[in-house]
Amino acid sequence: MRINKFLAENGVTSRRNADKLIESGEVTINGKPCSLGAEVKEGDVVQVNGSKITANAKKEYYIMNKPKGYVCTVSDDKGRPTVMDLLPAGVGRVFPIGRLDYDTEGLLLLTNDGDLTFRLTHPKNEVPKTYLIRIEGDISAQAIAKLRSGVEIDGVKTQKSNVHVVESTDDYTKLHVTITEGRNRQVRKMFESVGKEVVFLKRIKIGDLTLRGLDRGKVRKLSPEEIHYLQHI
Ligand code: URA
Repeated sequence: MRINKFLAENGVTSRRNADKLIESGEVTINGKPCSLGAEVKEGDVVQVNGSKITANAKKEYYIMNKPKGYVCTVSDDKGRPTVMDLLPAGVGRVFPIGRLDYDTEGLLLLTNDGDLTFRLTHPKNEVPKTYLIRIEGDISAQAIAKLRSGVEIDGVKTQKSNVHVVESTDDYTKLHVTITEGRNRQVRKMFESVGKEVVFLKRIKIGDLTLRGLDRGKVRKLSPEEIHYLQHI
C-alpha cells in the first residue's frame, strides 16, 4: 500500500496532508525518511515524528456539534481547547474532516477513514455544505446576487452558491448559504467582499446530514445508513 494511503487509513491525517508530511521528511519507513511514492509492506515499521503508526482495521465515524471557542486540530500550538477535548473517553484516533474556524460552530465530522475524508473534502466532488449566518443590518438584493454568482476572495472567484434570507429585522439579517468548496474562512470572506461582517456562523448541513437532536458540544457515532450516505454523496 502507498505510504500516503497507509497514513490516511490509519488515522494520521488526510491523504493530501500525508503528502506534505512525507515531503517534510517527518515520515520514516524502517527508520529511513521515505519518498512520496513509497510502498508499505507487511512488517514495515512506519513512524511519524518518531511515533509508531500501527495499522488499525476498525473505522470510526462521529458527528459533533462543535461549539465556538474550539480549534479543529489535534493539538493547538497556542494551547486553545481543541475539538479532541470534546470526544468521549475510549474514542480511537480520529481527525476532523475539514475545518471549522475557532469562532464557527456546528456540524463537524471526525473519522479515521482517510478515503472518506478525501472524498468529502476534494473540491471536484462539490459536496454541499450549508451554513446559518447572521449579519448586522440588512443586505441588498444586488449583494446577494453577487454572492450567488461568485465573488473574488484571495484573488480567486468562488463557485456559484445558494444564498437566501431566512429572517430579517431592523437590527440583523439571518441567511442560509450553501457552498460546495471549503476554502479558508470562505463564508466570512465572501460576505466581507460585499462589505458585510458575519457575526454568527454555524454549519447546519453537509449534504442532507443535519445536527438534528445533537446539542451543542455533543458527539455521537454516525449510523451505518449515514456512513453509507456519505460514502456515496
Ligand atoms: N466558512 C467560514 O468562513 N468559516 C468556517 O468555519 C466555515 C466556512
